[in-house]
Amino acid sequence: MSTQTNSSLKKIRVGILGFGTVGQGTWKHLQENAHFWPKILGVELIPSRASVRSLDKERPVEISKDQLTTDSASIVDDPNIDLVCELMGGVEEAKLLTLRAFAQGKSVVTANKALICEHGEELFRAAEEAGVGYGFEASVAGGIPIIKVLRESLVSNEFPLIYGILNGTSNYILTRMEKEGASFEEVLGDARQLGYVEADEALDLDGVDAAHKAVILAYLAHGIWVNLSEVTVEGIRRISNEDLQAAENLSCRIKLIGVIRRNFTNDHVAVAVHPALIPIEETIARTDGVHNGVCLNGSVVGTVVLTGRGAGQDPTASSVISDLVDVVKGVNGISSLPKLVHVSPEQCQPATPDEIEGRFYLRLAVDDRPGQLAKVAECLADRGISLATVSQTPHEKDKPASLILTTHQTNEHSIAQALAQLKELPGVVDDPVLFRMFDPNGMS
Ligand code: HSE
Repeated sequence: MSTQTNSSLKKIRVGILGFGTVGQGTWKHLQENAHFWPKILGVELIPSRASVRSLDKERPVEISKDQLTTDSASIVDDPNIDLVCELMGGVEEAKLLTLRAFAQGKSVVTANKALICEHGEELFRAAEEAGVGYGFEASVAGGIPIIKVLRESLVSNEFPLIYGILNGTSNYILTRMEKEGASFEEVLGDARQLGYVEADEALDLDGVDAAHKAVILAYLAHGIWVNLSEVTVEGIRRISNEDLQAAENLSCRIKLIGVIRRNFTNDHVAVAVHPALIPIEETIARTDGVHNGVCLNGSVVGTVVLTGRGAGQDPTASSVISDLVDVVKGVNGISSLPKLVHVSPEQCQPATPDEIEGRFYLRLAVDDRPGQLAKVAECLADRGISLATVSQTPHEKDKPASLILTTHQTNEHSIAQALAQLKELPGVVDDPVLFRMFDPNGMS
């Protein structure tokens, strides 16, 4: 490790707001690669100060006490700090500090997906008006360079479909449930111990974290900010070991995926996060553990799939530092990123549920009595939904039977109506479980 500085070179000093896992990783890798920045940038890139909640906590990285503060604003305001990394999480304070940095002509790099999802439009505009950079590669899919790929590498493409695994924690839980037959609660306990789960667990388990990331990808691909309230968001809590086994019997795996569909004929866009059965031959179906994976269907390039570590100290720091390097290049006038394009809501509307087609998987707990299956099938037929497969697991005496159905092609509106009716159907003893059957090759 080298912390020596070369006095003849310009020094760019980095202040880090929030010194948790990602903040410390960024500090560590900036230090460890100190010899490298002069070679590729012609300047020194020096991690200089960091803000923390507690000054006394032991930290594995090499940082002196006087480089730490509990006052994040003092770092933003420090005239010796040239660039700010906002790695503190949360929304309101992070937003204020980001705007404060912009107002002082300082570029900011962030990993804060909730902040970008909720206030990206305002923050991107503020950065542009201030003439500063705002890097957010680390906000989606950890170490996978998906933002750069969408913004730069695949700039000649339109994207009718983008889908993938955007939350490492839920993928870790599902993978272990599937591979080991372990229960949801058991694996969740391990995930907590490993520090994978967000402080607010609902973000990971109920699909909200993945939805933040899907909204950001939808913006990058289509220039439109989709409001979180217009995103279908379902998490992994209702996926049972029985469902994972049933999916395998159907040559599929269940993954929590973000899906962004764009219809270029009527200019409608649909963003959703939900569990889905994915054919086993798809790379995304075989992306396991804390890995993320994003599949992009580009109009020019065809299909591109990116997989890699979607969370954690080192992969996320890799993305943060990539943005820092871009910002420094911009500051030095060597290069600048393409402008972000903003499309007004009138130019691209949310798709209606009847436009979103697909096949579905249903698991019903039912009384095992004559005519029950016929009633369920009739309920679906009333909505024009045709069954593709039916199976009933052998059941124990005096317990409900488990009926697993898959449908032929229908749409979100029809299945939602059928589901509401099924909930009320005599003999259906629990809330039906519904998952999408996602076939990227069968989509219009
Ligand atoms: N909780 C997130 C995940 C962290 O599990 O993917 C990375 O954004």
